[in-house]
Amino acid sequence: MQLASIGEQGPRLRTLTLREHHGDTLWFTTDTRSVKASHLADDPRAEACWYDLTSRVQWRFAGRVDFLTRERHAEHCQRLWDRLDEQARARFNGPPPGSPWHGEPTPAGATPTAHFALLRLTVHNVDVLELACTPHRHWFYRGEQAPRRLVP
Ligand SMILES: Cc1cc2nc3c(=O)[nH]c(=O)nc-3n(C[C@H](O)[C@H](O)[C@H](O)COP(=O)(O)O)c2cc1C
Repeated sequence: MQLASIGEQGPRLRTLTLREHHGDTLWFTTDTRSVKASHLADDPRAEACWYDLTSRVQWRFAGRVDFLTRERHAEHCQRLWDRLDEQARARFNGPPPGSPWHGEPTPAGATPTAHFALLRLTVHNVDVLELACTPHRHWFYRGEQAPRRLVP
């Protein structure tokens, strides 16, 4: 998925792997030293977007982000850490994302490093655009309210 945040310099977008979803929340893994982490700590508003090529549906999820750290959510952090491959784990052991390259980081261990956290997006609005039908269909969901049909 692409996840947008807002910083002092303006908006910023990046690709994140959706790891899990629970109720109205989407879960990702991230490095607490990344730009997104500082943006979202200052302003938790975020939007995630995904276009499913098979069903030809665009999903847009708007809401607020919080972070689940290993200190307070050890079990969840460990579960998602266990699913990362060795390379992905090692990145949490090296310098911060976006800093100058100084070679491969050393492998990380079996438990999450201090910089590993889960980024949880609690969704308030869902915007769905269906392109597989004619005319296209566009729906807007807010909380538990019935969806509103909009112009595509
Ligand atoms: C296919 C793909 C999957 C990615 N998955 C993640 C991820 O799960 N978590 C993450 O922090 N970054 C992931 N990235 C890297 C981010 O897109 C981004 O480059 C990085 O997180 C730094 O973003 P930031 O500087 O905006 O914080 C992924 C990139 C790609 C292309």
